[in-house]
Amino acid sequence: MLCRLFLLTLASGVLGAVYQRSSDLPNGPFDFIIVGGGTAGAVLANRLTEISSFQVLVIEAGPSNDGVLNSIVPDFAFNLGNSPFDWNFTTTPQAGLNGRVVPFERGHILGGSSSVNGMFYTRGSSSDFNRFATVTGEPSWSWDNLQPYVFKHERWTTPADNHSTVGEFNPAVHGFNGFVKTTLPGFLNPALDSRIIKAANQLGGDFAFNLDMNSGNPLGVGWLASTAGGGERSSAATSYLAPQFQARPNLHILLSTRVTRILQTTGAAAHTLRTVEFTTGLNATSPRTLLTATKEVILSAGSIGTPHILLHSGIGNKTDLAALNIPSVLNLPSVGKNLTEHPIYSPTFNLNITNDVDPFANVFTDPTLMAEAFQLWNTNRTGPLVWLGRLDQIAWVRLPNNSPIFQQFADPSSGSNSAHYELALGVCYSCGSVKLATNNPFDAPLIDPAYLESDFDIFVARESIKGFARFMAAPAWKGVVLGPQGALANATTDAELDDFIRSTASAGAHPVGTAAMSESAAAFGVVNPDLLVKNASGLRIVDASIFPFVPCAHTQAAVYIIAERAADVVKAAWEH
Ligand SMILES: Cc1cc2nc3c(=O)[nH]c(=O)nc-3n(C[C@H](O)[C@H](O)[C@H](O)COP(=O)(O)OP(=O)(O)OC[C@H]3O[C@@H](n4cnc5c(N)ncnc54)[C@H](O)[C@@H]3O)c2cc1C
Ligand SMILES: *[C@@H]1O[C@H](CO)[C@@H](O)[C@H](O)[C@H]1NC(C)=O
Ligand SMILES: *[C@@H]1O[C@H](CO)[C@@H](O)[C@H](O)[C@H]1NC(C)=O
Ligand SMILES: *[C@@H]1O[C@H](CO)[C@@H](O)[C@H](O)[C@H]1NC(C)=O
Ligand SMILES: *[C@@H]1O[C@H](CO)[C@@H](O)[C@H](O)[C@H]1NC(C)=O
Ligand SMILES: *[C@@H]1O[C@H](CO)[C@@H](O)[C@H](O)[C@H]1NC(C)=O
Ligand SMILES: *[C@@H]1O[C@H](CO)[C@@H](O)[C@H](O)[C@H]1NC(C)=O
Ligand SMILES: *[C@@H]1O[C@H](CO)[C@@H](O)[C@H](O)[C@H]1NC(C)=O
Ligand SMILES: *[C@@H]1O[C@H](CO)[C@@H](O)[C@H](O)[C@H]1NC(C)=O
Ligand SMILES: *[C@@H]1O[C@H](CO)[C@@H](O)[C@H](O)[C@H]1NC(C)=O
Repeated sequence: MLCRLFLLTLASGVLGAVYQRSSDLPNGPFDFIIVGGGTAGAVLANRLTEISSFQVLVIEAGPSNDGVLNSIVPDFAFNLGNSPFDWNFTTTPQAGLNGRVVPFERGHILGGSSSVNGMFYTRGSSSDFNRFATVTGEPSWSWDNLQPYVFKHERWTTPADNHSTVGEFNPAVHGFNGFVKTTLPGFLNPALDSRIIKAANQLGGDFAFNLDMNSGNPLGVGWLASTAGGGERSSAATSYLAPQFQARPNLHILLSTRVTRILQTTGAAAHTLRTVEFTTGLNATSPRTLLTATKEVILSAGSIGTPHILLHSGIGNKTDLAALNIPSVLNLPSVGKNLTEHPIYSPTFNLNITNDVDPFANVFTDPTLMAEAFQLWNTNRTGPLVWLGRLDQIAWVRLPNNSPIFQQFADPSSGSNSAHYELALGVCYSCGSVKLATNNPFDAPLIDPAYLESDFDIFVARESIKGFARFMAAPAWKGVVLGPQGALANATTDAELDDFIRSTASAGAHPVGTAAMSESAAAFGVVNPDLLVKNASGLRIVDASIFPFVPCAHTQAAVYIIAERAADVVKAAWEH
């Protein structure tokens, strides 16, 4: 039986595999070409190849995630920036950051940013998704209607240390049979954990303990869930592209190959964009290859990669493109605009909790401790390296309704259950952009997140530090708080707090919105609610770039959710 299936597939001419060079690719034809084997791309590759008659090609610029230790050991994620697995982008000089240029990490590896990210698993609020539904006029994007996809992507797992998780999460809101492993901290820090929970209970209100921040109501203090399991990172690559899926005869993955443009398909109606141009070379003169998908090209190159490719293809604001001598193929002025991001900064309080309570406190600076920690991880996936940082809880907080800032600005959040800041993570109000620097697809684009350029953003940033100080004033910290650390210790006035923020903030790595979805009839936006590119055919976009707003969350959970639904939308369009 198995043998017959295999032979039948062979007869169709193509057998699945992972390739390093386009010359090794089978001739096709490919029904779908997915550009970018990242978070969303991996979900689509898996779901579309569930249909054995679909031949799917994934083209990924980065290398395989296989055996990349820094992408396996959770606490080694800190080593992935400015490595072969990072696109090494930087922002343009940021006026809101005192003119600084900051690194802007993006995964350049199978699994994309899910292979390099901080693994925080936070879905955002129900109103974040309900707003997607409202602004697109498509009820399928609402929180309630997306629930099947929430459960489909998640596989909840016991923490690495097997500690009891009663009272740390609500099993009713989690999936146990999906793909991406999620879990709770696997190497606890009892002295800190107990005080955080105690402070939450003492303060209540903004900081009330929240049993599960992934229920659609994230506000308050709660335990942090992460995309890990068994002491290892769980990424889109280790889950949706696990070896048994890569072995599917109808899945083809071409690595270390950059897509440079999407082209008009010859012989097809105008604005049929099913042809992909790519190269395994390293510069503008490298030879390019063209391939045409018989059904669709799906762009999943992420919030930077997707507009980068579209703009080089002549899909964007035609006036801007003309200035770079790029002929206009489709005038879609919203491409690359409305980039929304979260800035991140780290106010720190010194605590007098001695090292014998947390023997691994200095693991990153003490080589002997690191050797010991690695030994534990390597032997049986225990010890401090099973978790990123020493961070077991987070807080999502709203400004009070009577905050004076609301006399000046409308509330940018999606609703009353959505946060304005995560402790040490502010919410954006100003909008940035992704633009081309040149017409060479090998040159990095100009990434301008416009961090803290709006008065609302800097207000929230300041309030978040004040909120943090309020949290640290809870009785639970009595006797152990020594006070704010470093430059923060000197910052007492608003102007000094602003300066602390503007001189230390960096990228939060949550860009969205650069190919946003909008109502089908809207004169702005890049994709319709079914994620097909407006005024074109054969080209769909599925990745974080299509979010019309950034959720009050770290963004990967939302990417998994929208990609799962998108796979069903694509299947429905082509299954007969
Ligand atoms: C350092 C970092 C930390 C983060 N921390 C968290 C966190 O803790 N929790 C959380 O929820 N979110 C986090 N995020 C954000 C989250 O990981 C992303 O929102 C999400 O993974 C984006 O998914 P995507 O499919 O849109 O894009 P990606 O996963 O980035 O996939 C895009 C893929 O396309 C490929 N590509 C791009 N251009 C081309 C091209 N021209 N040709 C071929 N391939 C191309 C890329 O190499 C990449 O593999 C973090 C992100 C980063 C970078
Ligand atoms: C990013 O920079 C690092 C350090 O210079 C380098 O080793 C790596 O190859 C670069 N990444 C890419 C994708 O070029
Ligand atoms: C946790 O439980 C699993 C399964 O019973 C076991 O294999 C593992 O050794 C346990 N880990 C620890 C740290 O106790
Ligand atoms: C461009 O890349 C090719 C390999 O694809 C290399 O042979 C050539 O030297 C490079 N040229 C320049 C100008 O860097
Ligand atoms: C296109 O770009 C030009 C030049 O930057 C700008 O003046 C114009 O407003 C843009 N068009 C739209 C519709 O945004
Ligand atoms: C940016 O988003 C807003 C709100 O959805 C929308 O009104 C505006 O037209 C968008 N701008 C562009 C250039 O797409
Ligand atoms: C830290 O606490 C210990 C007792 O627990 C005390 O002896 C020591 O003085 C404290 N250190 C500081 C800097 O307050
Ligand atoms: C894990 O390995 C360490 C030795 O490296 C050992 O002390 C510990 O008991 C082991 N834990 C489990 C659960 O097997
Ligand atoms: C705090 O301010 C004092 C006085 O201006 C200065 O000497 C000190 O260096 C400052 N500390 C930090 C950490 O900036
Ligand atoms: C699509 O094309 C129509 C007709 O030319 C035009 O009116 C509309 O504005 C275009 N949509 C977008 C988003 O550019």
